[in-house]
Amino acid sequence: MISNSTAIPHPVAVMVSGTGRHLDHLATLAASGELPIDVRLCLSTRSDIGALQHAKRWNIPVQVPDEARELSPEAYSDLVFSALEQAGVKTLILAGFLRFLPIPDAWQNRVLNIHPSLLPAFGGAGYYGHRVHDAVLKRGCKVSGCTVHYVDNVFDHGPILVQRTCPVLDDDDADRLANRVFLEELIAYPEALRQHLSVQASG
Ligand code: GRF
Repeated sequence: MISNSTAIPHPVAVMVSGTGRHLDHLATLAASGELPIDVRLCLSTRSDIGALQHAKRWNIPVQVPDEARELSPEAYSDLVFSALEQAGVKTLILAGFLRFLPIPDAWQNRVLNIHPSLLPAFGGAGYYGHRVHDAVLKRGCKVSGCTVHYVDNVFDHGPILVQRTCPVLDDDDADRLANRVFLEELIAYPEALRQHLSVQASG
């Protein structure tokens, strides 16, 4: 679906802890007009991760709140959400972000996350990165996939927006499976954001 080019792009921030492939992909779709978002801010857990190269290339301002991890979850959340309010951000997109972030009431259904399994299977504390795919392979699953969901105050738990599946092949290892799931993620996140934006527009 091509967006209406006259629509005002919806202000978002993307929060990262890794290589930032979704940050890059979403910024690409925003630049081509395929997704009506304006990536106003990149929030990172560290100042030395690959994702920040993408932010730099796309001229997206970066902040690294509490890099030393000294703050309580609540104080960290205060810092993050005041930065978002200050930047005029309306929706927060977690994209390979690895830290517990309590969600204030005013931000319920405004924070999205993508997880590389078919939740509720293989989700929750400790299930991230290749640990997810290793567990899927160990259990002998025949399908896997990804889930985009709203974030609440329990890991990988909030309402589901989009799920996409892919096969698990007999000779898969975690790398091969992760790559196949990621191809579905590249479709699922924009689709979920379009759904979210249409709800925002009608509300
Ligand atoms: C994706 O697999 C996503 O499902 C998970 O983090 C990965 C993207 O982060 N939440 P990155 O591009 O590897 O940093």
